[in-house]
Amino acid sequence: MNTAPVRVLMVCLGNICRSPLAEGILKAQAAVRGAAVVVDSAGISNYHEGEPPHRGSIDIARERGLPIDDQRSRPVRPSDFHDFDWLLAMDTSNKNALLHMAPPGFDRSRVKLLLDFAEFGPRDVPDPYYTGGFGEVFDLIAAGCAGFLDHLGVAPAGSPS
Ligand code: 4NP
Repeated sequence: MNTAPVRVLMVCLGNICRSPLAEGILKAQAAVRGAAVVVDSAGISNYHEGEPPHRGSIDIARERGLPIDDQRSRPVRPSDFHDFDWLLAMDTSNKNALLHMAPPGFDRSRVKLLLDFAEFGPRDVPDPYYTGGFGEVFDLIAAGCAGFLDHLGVAPAGSPS
């Protein structure tokens, strides 16, 4: 059996609002399911490099029982394209930027929208940076992460094996 962990990079624009939540949520869901998944997050931009997540993301994560305070923003780097199996973008603009940055010969099917894995709802996670709505953002990301783990074939906790 291949037990190598699946490596996932969550990507948004600033790596302070959406992708830190996605990192924390996927880690927590994978732990509950007993799945070997390595998760990190990064931004298309370096606008907030070195900063902790946005207060709105920290607060909603804490409300839902996830500590994400220790994360620090970093930009996507060239090595990410071989260090991760999947690069999951929060919106179409982030996805297009990743595809633009991808090295020659890169398997472009490893870049997806996170919400491609959600059963219903929008394909883009809305950017809460200016408008808020962190609760809705959390729920969308949680649905995408659950669908992604389903796609990997990792059974939800409590289901028959
Ligand atoms: P994020 O949100 O991409 O979900 O981290 C944003 C954070 C910062 C900016 C835009 C979106 N900004 O323009 O600085």
